[in-house]
Amino acid sequence: MSFGCDASSNLVVSITTLKLSAFRCFEQADFQLSPGINVLSGPNGSGKTSVLEAVNFLSTGKSFRTAKPKNMIKKGSDAFSVFAQLSDNGQQQTLGCQLDKSSKKTLKHNQHNIKKQTVLAATLPTLSIDPHSYLFCDNTPQYRRSFLDWMVFHVKHDYILLWRQVVKLQKHINHLLKHKKLDELKVWLAQYVKLAEQLNEERYSVFSMLQKVFNQLMYQLMPNLSDTQLNYQPGWSSELSLSDTLLKDMEGNLQYGQLRNGIHRMDIQVKSSGHFIKDIYSRGQKKMTALICYLSCLKVMDNSSDHHSLLCLDDFDAELDGSNAHFFFDYIKTLPNQILISTVDNQRYENKEVKMFHVKQL
Ligand SMILES: Nc1ncnc2c1ncn2[C@@H]1O[C@H](COP(=O)(O)OP(=O)(O)OP(=O)(O)O)[C@@H](O)[C@H]1O
Ligand SMILES: [Mg+2]
Repeated sequence: MSFGCDASSNLVVSITTLKLSAFRCFEQADFQLSPGINVLSGPNGSGKTSVLEAVNFLSTGKSFRTAKPKNMIKKGSDAFSVFAQLSDNGQQQTLGCQLDKSSKKTLKHNQHNIKKQTVLAATLPTLSIDPHSYLFCDNTPQYRRSFLDWMVFHVKHDYILLWRQVVKLQKHINHLLKHKKLDELKVWLAQYVKLAEQLNEERYSVFSMLQKVFNQLMYQLMPNLSDTQLNYQPGWSSELSLSDTLLKDMEGNLQYGQLRNGIHRMDIQVKSSGHFIKDIYSRGQKKMTALICYLSCLKVMDNSSDHHSLLCLDDFDAELDGSNAHFFFDYIKTLPNQILISTVDNQRYENKEVKMFHVKQL
């Protein structure tokens, strides 16, 4: 079994030039990136994660470490900007974003102002694996739910509309439960069940794709732990339908003033021989399991798109021993995607076919 050469006809989008201005610790920084693997090495606090964060912000409009993007403006400056020149299968494109202290954001695509972040996300699809991601198995169900929903948004573009409808409906039902409006509840619950089951099916179909790739990659990269499994929990007991669950639990829901079961309780359980792996795996083993989960996600996203996403791996090799880091790196090397890796261990990548950047503290 090999995942080495992707035979699909996906287009490879890559950043050729990345420019940061007043972003975190950088006054001005320019990077001429390779379409393959780029390794950012340097001591703690030198700005490695900030470079990945800038790329992630350009694509998704979000930071993976702060809920307040203005935290990324360099202290003493009024605004930051991130600019990227892309090669999209040979064609040149540019993307830019700027954020000022009042949190006003300006987005640009090929020098034109644009309103929607989705244009940038579609032009430069990016998957970031950051230190939070490595806690995939230890994190709360909410984390894994957001991870799967994010994947479904990418794979099925209409999913966001359904998701918004169900969330709105659920809020209304919770309001009715809180105020014990039983007559109205019946109608709205029937509507909720219909849409929630539809949403569950969408989630489950994407989960099945993830699970298939995960099992294959686990077998390839961690054969000793290949009995690690991802299990889908819809948010209610598998022995009852959602409708029966809600009927059975009506009294509890009324008491609680909220729905106790439903799509908002969905989770991906990660288990090995019946045990939750958060209870039995070592930190390194959990990190590798999480990495495989995200690399599987990358594969699923790429399979459902006409572009290969850019992959950002923050602190990729921390906590992995030499042979595991080597093993994972050998796999990553075979991916067609452009990759940015941050590391404190520059020696690990010496004599490898990568472009090295030594990030220095200013
Ligand atoms: N808004 C800001 N203005 C100025 N400096 C900042 C700002 N936000 C963060 N910094 C500083 O930027 C530096 C770079 O942080 P970053 O997390 O990118 O470093 P790193 O190279 O990834 O370090 P590590 O190896 O510890 O993960 C840090 O010294 C941090 O304190
Ligand atoms: Mg860092």
